[in-house]
Amino acid sequence: MASNASNEFATISEIIRAARMNLTQGAWDYMAGASESETTMKRNRRALDRLALKPRAMRDVRTIDTSATVLGMKLRMPVLLAPIGSLETFCPSEGASASARAAEEFGVCHMLSSRCSPGLEEVAAAADNYKIFQLYVRGDAEFEDDHARRAVKAGYNAFAVTVDTAVYSRRERDYANRFVKKWRVDVSDNEQSWQACYTWDNVKRFKDTHDIPLIMKGIATAEDAALCVEHGVDGIYVSNHGGRQLDHGRGSMDVLPEVVEVAKGKATIIVDGGCLRGTDIIKARALGADLVGIGRLQCCALAAGGKGGLLRALEILEDELRIGMGLCGATSWDDIDPSCVLPSAAVEYPSVFSAHHLLALDPNKY
Ligand code: LAC
Repeated sequence: MASNASNEFATISEIIRAARMNLTQGAWDYMAGASESETTMKRNRRALDRLALKPRAMRDVRTIDTSATVLGMKLRMPVLLAPIGSLETFCPSEGASASARAAEEFGVCHMLSSRCSPGLEEVAAAADNYKIFQLYVRGDAEFEDDHARRAVKAGYNAFAVTVDTAVYSRRERDYANRFVKKWRVDVSDNEQSWQACYTWDNVKRFKDTHDIPLIMKGIATAEDAALCVEHGVDGIYVSNHGGRQLDHGRGSMDVLPEVVEVAKGKATIIVDGGCLRGTDIIKARALGADLVGIGRLQCCALAAGGKGGLLRALEILEDELRIGMGLCGATSWDDIDPSCVLPSAAVEYPSVFSAHHLLALDPNKY
């Protein structure tokens, strides 16, 4: 069924443009920007753009099933609404509940950021969707246990701890805009220090204490993925935080294969980083990811039209997914494997939304 916003937005470019119009420069740059030179962010896009899909002809693709079951969740497509802090800035009417409700209505999963309002219980009550709670560890073991217990009680399907923020990065767009309140002012040194000393011992303790599936978010090497497997972690979330933490890191799609090599079949593999198109989801799945996170696109869709805008973005993504799968000769994810992608040359100079050429960007404005 078409969402209410379907007449308003014909393309994702239109959604992004509407978000730009609705947001202040500060909020826009907080979302669109990344750390320091923004090289990691651009490499996310470059790593996707350097993969070509292999078309296959003359297969019967009248019926294409985009659904996937991930961590016991039966999803209409293997898409995760990635955790975004301060969603209330982008969707003042509903905040993170809009993502939860869109996830329920569309049939995807939402990972709620612990830096959002409303919070854990209220967002869980807003919709009966597949949901994962994401925590920034800002306190001792009791702090973590309390969140884990509350997540179980509120019906979350899994619990994620973000581990790529031991120290907080310099987001230069935020500095230029004097928009640094988001993290460095809101989070005390004492709170941040709990993140700085979060180690594999904490992971062991969590696994020994709680039953809920545990996901480590922000894994970007085979070495750390192997340690996740060794510690019985249920989900490995390959991410560089949208290029917002370590600058001059690798693009997520360049990291994914080495993680898949050590963890496939031993843990669920989630990836995000620059995914803005159906073809991006196909590429990630071909390389071995189970679930693909969308962050900035989700944020723009909410800023453009709240829950309806997000449903529209998901519809367009699903349409692209069907087309891409069909033209690759795939009727389900069983037909998508590493042989579906080949190294190729990137054709776009990467920037935050370079996947959507109709934006006709003035790069200084976006
Ligand atoms: C950020 C945190 C909130 O990237 O995840 O801004």
